[in-house]
Amino acid sequence: MTDLRRAALSVRENAYAPYSGFKVGAAVRTASGAVFRGCNVENVAYPEGTCAEAGAIAAMVAAGDTTLAEVYVVAGSPEPVPCCGGCRQKLAEFGAGDVPVTLATVDGAERRTTIAAMLPGAFDAGFMA
Ligand code: THU
Repeated sequence: MTDLRRAALSVRENAYAPYSGFKVGAAVRTASGAVFRGCNVENVAYPEGTCAEAGAIAAMVAAGDTTLAEVYVVAGSPEPVPCCGGCRQKLAEFGAGDVPVTLATVDGAERRTTIAAMLPGAFDAGFMA
């Protein structure tokens, strides 16, 4: 098992998902080689909940790192679950288009994609020039 999968699986155990019952874990490796983890954190005011990917990105930025090199997301679903639209935009903020993203199930199914493949036609700072 890769270190990123192990990290995502372990942090998924801490997910706070009493409303959906759907626990998600995310682990990211940065260009410096560090690994950061995040899990989904729901709220009784449903829109206030946050995704696992957002948690991992927040941990990365809090540690002073801002460049994604690899992303791994795991959920207890029958098929690997795609990142939501908001998380695709969040990942694109910190990772180049060719950064590999692995979507996985707890049972071990994996689907490999990239940040660019998940968010074609992304809005980026170039449009504000
Ligand atoms: N969720 C994530 O954390 N990441 C994803 O990629 C998909 C969805 C969470 C949000 C919410 O807590 C639960 O899964 C159900 O949508």
